[in-house]
Amino acid sequence: MTPERSDALVFFGITGDLAFKKIFPALHAMAKRGTLDLPVVGVATSRLTLDDLVQRARDSITAHGGGVDEAAFHHLSTLLQYVQGDYRQADTFARLRDALKTSRRPLHYLAIPPSLFADVVEGLGSAGCTAGARVVLEKPFGRDLASARALNETLHHRFDESAIYRIDHYLGKEAVQNILYFRFANAFLEPIWNRHYIENVQITMAEQFGVAGRGKFYEETGVMRDVIQNHLLQVVGFLAMEPPSASYPEAIRDEQAKVMRSIPPLSGDQLVLGQFDGYKDELGVAKDSKVATYAAVEVRIESWRWAGVPFYIRAGKSLAATTTEVLVELKAPPQVVFREAAPAMGNYVRFRLSPDVVIALGASAKRVGEGMAGQPTELSVARQRSSDEMDAYERLLGDAMHGDATLFARQDAVEAAWAIVEPLLTLDREPISYPVGSWGPEAADRLTSALGGWYAPQ
Ligand code: BG6
Repeated sequence: MTPERSDALVFFGITGDLAFKKIFPALHAMAKRGTLDLPVVGVATSRLTLDDLVQRARDSITAHGGGVDEAAFHHLSTLLQYVQGDYRQADTFARLRDALKTSRRPLHYLAIPPSLFADVVEGLGSAGCTAGARVVLEKPFGRDLASARALNETLHHRFDESAIYRIDHYLGKEAVQNILYFRFANAFLEPIWNRHYIENVQITMAEQFGVAGRGKFYEETGVMRDVIQNHLLQVVGFLAMEPPSASYPEAIRDEQAKVMRSIPPLSGDQLVLGQFDGYKDELGVAKDSKVATYAAVEVRIESWRWAGVPFYIRAGKSLAATTTEVLVELKAPPQVVFREAAPAMGNYVRFRLSPDVVIALGASAKRVGEGMAGQPTELSVARQRSSDEMDAYERLLGDAMHGDATLFARQDAVEAAWAIVEPLLTLDREPISYPVGSWGPEAADRLTSALGGWYAPQ
């Protein structure tokens, strides 16, 4: 049976950073595509008029949505409503109920601090706004394993598991989905996609910008909770999962959860933490902050396919470039046939996830001329983002409205991912400072020194 479509979107935190950077642009893109046909009720504590909110939406789309399409924007603005109020007051939810009029299946999006989740969920329930409703939550889902479980219990007071959508926008990215597609739509990869042929896997998520005004948020999350426990472990899951069966809808999430369960908890000796110079001077950051803005970590997957293959993850702010790349390095041939120097980088599969999308196969080929010396070559397919390409948030909002949870994190996988990083969350370790514009602390090189160091994304 096709799930019923949501008939209103309620966005808690409509004046916040996420709405400004991602949600208004996603709604505008939907309006442009002709797929936005439900009331959008913004909720926040700020005293704004509806006109102020419409102006904010325009500013957001101008800054982050590639420019305003007047017809689409007009359509969006006719759907917008605003409910101002305190999330702890019943009256706020009574007014929300009025604003929802005859809606029977609202989609509630909670882009608010986790400390307010319980109040909002109870407020919604008491006002009769949860029957037939769905709820979307932003990552990180909890702060650790115990709080993720507690949060889940809170949600289950008022929502059935099938109505809960835990968003990890990485799962909605075209390039991340391409990993799955490329792996399972081609037969040539499967025979080599295992410990017999793969030497190691490296995932680099580098960002040239710092915490960009989000110091307070970042102090609570740090790199481990911000991107490693969620985005990057999800990428590991897509790279490592077994082929999902096409016969039932939960298959991809089952395989994803299995990967998470096969990764043993990480230990401090598999980890290097860093903090960029100047982080402590950011607004909202403690002068003696030990929060890491960079981490490099080695992950092992204890499965028949992956035993013995290290997966290295590194992520950081204020680094030399903004790019996310995966490099799957294949083993060297069993014998040296040609005695002249072979290129240092042999065979690999490279997935560039951002800013552009690239899938490349790296190989050695003979250099033209006398002798049998090699040179590295790459067969690659590159694609720039096209202007009408769906952004992750547009895709995921649409999926949640349609009741399709395939690209949302499931509770068992979220808990397994917390269990992986849990030992690192309580480590009392001073992060190593690194210069802005570098590739992070040099100490991170020791993790990969046996393989000749980190692969530097192009
Ligand atoms: C967010 C993190 O979830 O993902 C940010 O909170 C990070 O710190 C961002 O910059 C990266 O996502 P994208 O899609 O902009 O590459």
